[in-house]
Order: sequence, then C-alpha cells, then structure tokens
Amino acid sequence: MNQYSLADAMTDKGNFTVPKLSESNMGFGVLGVFLGLLLEVSTHGPHSVPRTSWKRQDLDLLEFSEPGISNYSTLLLSEDRDALYVGAREAIFELSKRNVTVRNHKVQWKVAENPMMMCTLKGKSKERDCLNYIRVLQIVDDERLYVCGTHAFQPQCDYLNLRDFSMEGRPEEGRGKCSYDPSQSFTAVMVDGELYSGTAYNFLGSEPIISRYSPPHSLLRTEYSTSWLNEPSFVFADVIRAGKHRVDGEDDKIYYFFTEVSVEYEFFGKLLIPRVARVCKGDLGGQRTLQKKWTSFLKAKLVCSMPELNFVFNVVHDVFILKGKDWRDTIFYGIFTSQWGNVGLSAVCTYNMTAVEEVFSKGKYMQKATVEQSHTKWVRYNGIPPSPRAGACINSQMRQQNISSSLHLPDKTLQFVRDHPLLEDPVLPIGNRPRLITKDVNYTQLVVERVRALDGNIYDVIFSGTDKGVLHKSVVFEEDVHIVEEIQLLKNSEPIKNLLLSSKVRHLFSSPKTRAEMNLTGEFCESQIG
Ligand SMILES: *[C@@H]1O[C@H](CO)[C@@H](O)[C@H](O)[C@H]1NC(C)=O
Ligand SMILES: *[C@@H]1O[C@H](CO)[C@@H](O)[C@H](O)[C@H]1NC(C)=O
Ligand SMILES: *[C@@H]1O[C@H](CO)[C@@H](O)[C@H](O)[C@H]1NC(C)=O
Ligand SMILES: *[C@@H]1O[C@H](CO)[C@@H](O)[C@H](O)[C@H]1NC(C)=O
Repeated sequence: MNQYSLADAMTDKGNFTVPKLSESNMGFGVLGVFLGLLLEVSTHGPHSVPRTSWKRQDLDLLEFSEPGISNYSTLLLSEDRDALYVGAREAIFELSKRNVTVRNHKVQWKVAENPMMMCTLKGKSKERDCLNYIRVLQIVDDERLYVCGTHAFQPQCDYLNLRDFSMEGRPEEGRGKCSYDPSQSFTAVMVDGELYSGTAYNFLGSEPIISRYSPPHSLLRTEYSTSWLNEPSFVFADVIRAGKHRVDGEDDKIYYFFTEVSVEYEFFGKLLIPRVARVCKGDLGGQRTLQKKWTSFLKAKLVCSMPELNFVFNVVHDVFILKGKDWRDTIFYGIFTSQWGNVGLSAVCTYNMTAVEEVFSKGKYMQKATVEQSHTKWVRYNGIPPSPRAGACINSQMRQQNISSSLHLPDKTLQFVRDHPLLEDPVLPIGNRPRLITKDVNYTQLVVERVRALDGNIYDVIFSGTDKGVLHKSVVFEEDVHIVEEIQLLKNSEPIKNLLLSSKVRHLFSSPKTRAEMNLTGEFCESQIG
C-alpha cells in the first residue's frame, strides 16, 4: 500500500512533489519536518516577543460570577439592548454590557426529575452530565432569545422572553440543534429566525450533523456519511450576506469552520484537516434525491502552513470573520496549532472570502475510487461535472432554466453532490503563509478589531487567548504581526474559552483602546485594555 508523507498530506500540493514513502521510513519523514522547523524558529526567532506584559493586578478587571453557578460558557452581546447575555449551567443571565458586575436579570432552567433519572440510568453522572448546560443563546427578534441546553443529555430548546426575562416554558426538541454532551464541540448561529447548528445528532455523539431548523419545519441536514463529515470538531459558523449582489440572484451563505479526520490522505493514524464548509440559505433540499438534506453542502481544506519548511498547522481552534461592506471585501482570521501539540507553536492565518468563493464555485471535486480490490482512495474527479454545478446556490442563470429552488434541481446534480462534497482545491491563506507564528503558546480563541490609528492608517488588532489564560494583543503592520501586549487575564492557568468584542465600544473609542469580555469555566470577567 502506498502512503503519502506528512508533507504531502498537509501542504498545498501544488507547490510540492513529494515522494511516496514506504511505511518503514515514515517515522523519519515526520521527525525531519519538526526538527527543521524548531531549528528555524530558534535561529531566527519569531517576531513575537510582547513589548509589554501585564499582570492581573495591574489591570482594571471587572468580574462576574454567582455562587453555585458554574460553566459560563455561552455569551451573546446585544448592542441594541446594551446587554451581555450569559448562558451557564442551569441559568441564563443578562448583564450590563458596560459593567458586567451589574446583573440585570437571571432565569434558571433546571432538569426535571424524570429526564435526570433517564440520564443517570444511561450511565451518566448526576452531578456532572445530567444537568442543563446552556449552549445556544441567539437573538430571534426584539423580544425573544432562542435558548437551547443539553438538558441531561436530552437537548431542549425554548424561547426566552426579554420583557420579563422568563422562559416561555414550551420546550421544543433540541436534537440536531444542540449537543447532548456539554463537553462536545458545538457551534450555532441564528440567521433570519433559522438556527444553523454544527453538533452531534445522537446520545453517543458519534453522528455529526450540520443542520438548519426553520420553525415549524423539520431539520434540513447533512447526509450521515464520512465523506460529508468525519469526526468533526466544530469551531464556528456565520452567515455572509450576498448584499448588493443579491440583485444578480446570489444567495446568502452560511460558512462552517471545523477540524475533521481526513478521508483523502492515507496516514498511519488519524490525520486531522481544518475545513471550511458552506451551505446556501435558500436551500430546501432535494425532491427525491437528498430529500430534507442539503443540496448545497461543499467543503474544502483550509491551508495554514509554512511551505518552505513543510510545516503545517492542521487544527483550527477559532475563526473571526472581519466583515467588509461587501462580501468581496470580507476576510477572516483563523487560529491554528498542529495536531502534534508538543511542538508548541500556534499560528494565525488570514483568508480572503473572494478566494474561498472561488474554490467553492470553480474548484475541482474529489471522488472516491477503488484501488487494489477493496481499498478506497480519494482522487481528483477529472470527468465533466453535471450542470447546474453540484453544490451551487440557486442563481439567476438557473432560474432562467426554470430551476427556481433546490427542489427543482436535476437528479444528476443532486447525486453528484451527494457523492462529491469535498473539493480538491484548497483555500490558501493571504500571502501563502501565516501572519503570525508564536512559540510556546497554544492559542484557543481570537477576535479582531479594525481600527483607525492616530496616523490615519487602518490596522487590524488581533486579540488571541491562550490555553493558560493569557491574552495577546497584536497589531498587523506591513503584512507582519507584532505582539504588543501580553496580559494575564485569568486567575488560574486555564484556557480562554470565549472572546467577544463590542462593536459599540469600537465606535466610542477612536484611539486604539478596546475592551474585551471574556469567560472561562467558573469565572467571568471583563477588561479594559488601553
Ligand atoms: C464545568 O465547570 C467545571 C469546573 O467549574 C469543569 O470541571 C467542567 O469541565 C465544566 N464542564 C463543561 C462541560 O464545560
Ligand atoms: C481578495 O481577493 C480579491 C481578488 O483576488 C482582491 O481584489 C482583494 O483585494 C483581496 N482582498 C484582500 C483583503 O486581500
Ligand atoms: C420554463 O417554463 C415556462 C413555463 O412553464 C416554459 O414556457 C419555458 O419553455 C420553460 N423554459 C425552459 C428553459 O425550460
Ligand atoms: C499545548 O497543548 C498541548 C496539548 O494539547 C500540550 O502538550 C503542550 O504542552 C501545550 N504547550 C504549551 C506551550 O502550553
């Protein structure tokens, strides 16, 4: 059996011709890659030593926590209401956005006796698992939030009335919208009253799903197949609006970011691959083929690597989309580490939305091929793909052919997209390399702020949180990133789980002053960083 080397597997194949290695010298291939990198970094040193370092006590930190309540893990900012909503274990809070120590409202959402018992009977812990961890907090309209909790491994959702801050008390099935397991990766975003989730569909957490819930309809979802999703760790999802291009018949698109186990590379273990996937907002599923399934689900590999060193960052931890006026001006930042965490490096890569769209609208598909009897392998599809293009959103051109919704798509197109959700062309970062590489740091979260400095120029300021409770503030300057400050935000050496930036505050301060709100298990704090 032929196997590819790590370098081949993990870098933009276009730039390399990597010899196939036999299994016996595989280990050396991997080792070489890492040694080369470490040497390089220690000789030249990354441009990443912070200029200023702050201790917790040097800062003006505001903290919120409530006795008996833990796991403040879901945050939602409402600029209109000047509020910060916090979803914790069995409770939801409304805090003042200007001062998180001010608690305006609180509502509890506990698990009843019966579901609790069912949960413990299935072998879960009463104190840890069989509680209600709030994982979805999304704005429905001026008066309501949509809230989902793990609810003792039987996820439920309900509306939260903002007028009197009470739950409506008519819980809906949360399966496919929220995770069963509070510790499993999860992402959700509400777009025009419809909830898009990335989660697991079953108790065991083994059936991944990307879904849309449009009340009162049933879920539109991914096919249950390893070619669609293969042990994904969901990181982020958000909508990119067609904006002024809507007049050309373009659709809004929802992008998902996750790391999954590769199907396309052969490797001696599980090889992780960072992905971007997208679905079209107007998707209604197919008529016969792909009934109640996405007809527009496509995914591609996100590349964040140092090609000259054959080093690849293959785990994405967080994504921040810096939305421009138009989607063509939109870029996004991703924070990466390597699957082999002991290397101790983190990277920030940036991507151009135009480049992403290019891959989805023109990229080559991959397909499964059988080689050497039973062995399957993913190779580039070199045939002529069906028309309309598989996975494309409905556009003006299709409407002219009387295809006004995905229900009218021909079977040939639907069958093709069902079997070819993966594109071969990768999404490459701007400049073809990371913007920032940092040694001895595991980044977990990031937010980016675009500011106009006193010199009149526009800069991107990156706030990145580490697994040790530290925040880095970096500035993108002439294509390079410089870490300017390092702040010990959390009392304990714990990962930063959430970072949010208030755009209102962005308006208030015209100097590069900002405000970050953050949270970790059991503690919550807000800081002002000058
Ligand atoms: C909840 O918080 C506790 C500590 O306060 C932590 O040990 C546990 O892992 C957290 N659970 C989840 C699901 O985040
Ligand atoms: C994104 O790519 C497009 C097309 O190549 C280009 O016009 C645009 O300037 C790029 N944007 C950024 C921020 O690099
Ligand atoms: C689209 O439908 C209309 C009305 O049913 C029909 O007249 C027309 O020929 C159709 N066009 C195509 C391209 O099939
Ligand atoms: C980064 O995380 C990995 C485990 O995920 C750990 O082995 C490593 O020590 C961490 N590195 C640093 C610098 O904290």
